[in-house]
Amino acid sequence: MTEHGPISDPDRWLMGHPADSPVPEIPEDAVGPGKWMLMHNDLTVAVGPWGVSFGANLTPDDTGIGTWSFEQFKKAMTEGKYKGMDNSRPIMPPMPWESFKNLTEEDLRAIYDYLKSIKPIENVVPAYIPPAQTE
Ligand code: HEM
Repeated sequence: MTEHGPISDPDRWLMGHPADSPVPEIPEDAVGPGKWMLMHNDLTVAVGPWGVSFGANLTPDDTGIGTWSFEQFKKAMTEGKYKGMDNSRPIMPPMPWESFKNLTEEDLRAIYDYLKSIKPIENVVPAYIPPAQTE
């Protein structure tokens, strides 16, 4: 984030939330239905009624989508399945997968081929944190 707004960092292109970047304290009282959702200053962490989600590593490293098949990518993008696996959890906001579910096979293939062509970056993104359970 700069004084002119966000700019992309080519050295970290699509690597998701950096593993070594601490998450500041979250003001839980501010978040919830009818209240706020929060976005971290670097735009890679979001907090809302769904919990805390971290921008995914979309680079072709093993810690990103390096081992993914096209079918996995398609399932993630069109069915909102984490890691593109049938029995995995739903992909959380703000990932707008519902907006992608009608993409053509050709467009999905083009995005997949592009992501597989960029620089692989090793980065284990922190795990999604579900909302705190209340009594
Ligand atoms: C063409 C554009 C996009 C592509 C190809 C894409 C691709 C993906 C994929 C494949 C995943 C699943 C990663 C996994 O299962 O390990 C994911 C997760 C995610 N995406 Fe996107 N995405 C796009 C746009 C966006 C946008 C616009 C946002 C935010 C405004 C976003 C935020 C996220 C977040 C926060 C996650 C992690 C969600 C979770 O852990 O449940 N994505 N994305």
